[in-house]
This record gives sequence, structure tokens and C-alpha cells, in this order.
Amino acid sequence: MAEKMNWQRIATRYELDHDLVLEEQTVKVVEVEDQLVCLGKFKGNYYALRNKCMHAGGYLGEGQCDFEGNVICPFHRYRYSLATGKNTSGEGYYAKTYPLETRQDGLYIGLKVKSWWKF
Ligand code: FES
Repeated sequence: MAEKMNWQRIATRYELDHDLVLEEQTVKVVEVEDQLVCLGKFKGNYYALRNKCMHAGGYLGEGQCDFEGNVICPFHRYRYSLATGKNTSGEGYYAKTYPLETRQDGLYIGLKVKSWWKF
């Protein structure tokens, strides 16, 4: 059974068309439904990761994006692929990724709908 997704718009069509969401090769924190998400842009594509580094809780959205499309955690500089969430600096972690969809009216992020017994 496919998981239900709660799609939330995080940027308008105007913001996308006028390149107002993010500069190339940067990341930022966005808040969606009380969740903090690291939104990144690399080679014209947008990516979304959980904002919390799996090492010690650093805020990935406050880090930097390198020339290979990795976000660098601002705390201890571990790197995570924006595309896959895989830790690319060798420590074996993964950062949760979120699906993004570009629609006619803007950019959307998909958040899993939690079942009532899973908190
Ligand atoms: S908290 Fe992110 S590398 Fe340590």
C-alpha cells in the first residue's frame, strides 16, 4: 500500500520563475508543517533533506553546498548528498530525504502522513 503524502507548497510559481527561492549551490532552512527542512539547490535542481544531521544534530540548512552537490554540516563538516541523503564523507549516516514536485503553481514538498499510532 502506497504511503499517503501531505503535499505542501514551499515556493510559488513566481518565485520559481524569477529564481527567488535559492541561489545556485546553496541551502537554507524552510519550515513546513512544524518541521524544519534543509532545502538545497544544485545544478538547477531542488532537493530537500531533514534539517538535522545524524551525527550530533547540526542544522544542515545552515551549512554550505559543495561543488559536488553535498551539503556540509556546519558543526563538524560531515557531508550529505543532497540527492540521496547519503553521508559522503564516510561516516555511514543517512539524512532523510523528502520528495519535491514542481507543479504549475509552484514547488511542493511531500511529507508522509503519520498514522495515529506512530508518533
Ligand atoms: S553534527 Fe553534523 S557533522 Fe557533527
